[in-house]
Amino acid sequence: MISAKLLQLVIDASNDGIVVAEHEGDDNILLYVNPAFERLTGYPAVDILYQDCRFLQAGDRDQESLDRVRQAIADGRPCRQVLRNYRKDGSVFWNELSITPVYNDADKLTYYIGIQKDVTDQVEVQREVTELRARVAELEAQLKTPV
Ligand SMILES: Cc1cc2nc3c(=O)[nH]c(=O)nc-3n(C[C@H](O)[C@H](O)[C@H](O)COP(=O)(O)O)c2cc1C
Repeated sequence: MISAKLLQLVIDASNDGIVVAEHEGDDNILLYVNPAFERLTGYPAVDILYQDCRFLQAGDRDQESLDRVRQAIADGRPCRQVLRNYRKDGSVFWNELSITPVYNDADKLTYYIGIQKDVTDQVEVQREVTELRARVAELEAQLKTPV
């Protein structure tokens, strides 16, 4: 078993955001965010502790993946979804969010771990590939059409 100190060192060194949240009322409030979360979002921990992470959506709530996150949380299931999020300076990024519920010995849901990964480059490349495929399909259809 590794020591609590080493565990803290490892979490602080992570390149991906790691947060711990606790269920309270309708919210899951942040109890801990690591330095990578602060770098990714631009929010210092002191500004956002005890808030629900939805502030990262900055009002951009019409996202299908959010419904899946909401449902997984309601069911106490883990989930992984890509969300559109906004940094403190307003710039947008794509966040591959993994949420895992943590149960205690009495099988009671106590905390959630969230891991945030910036996948903006991958999402943009994927979007370009989709656009190019559609363009190729269009051109192929034109070539097949008799003049
Ligand atoms: C541990 C944890 C981490 C979360 N991290 C994020 C996040 O980085 N970005 C985000 O948009 N939502 C995040 N969420 C999801 C929101 O907190 C919230 O559950 C979601 O917006 C759906 O609920 P709502 O419709 O009540 O807002 C996280 C949730 C949990 C439990």
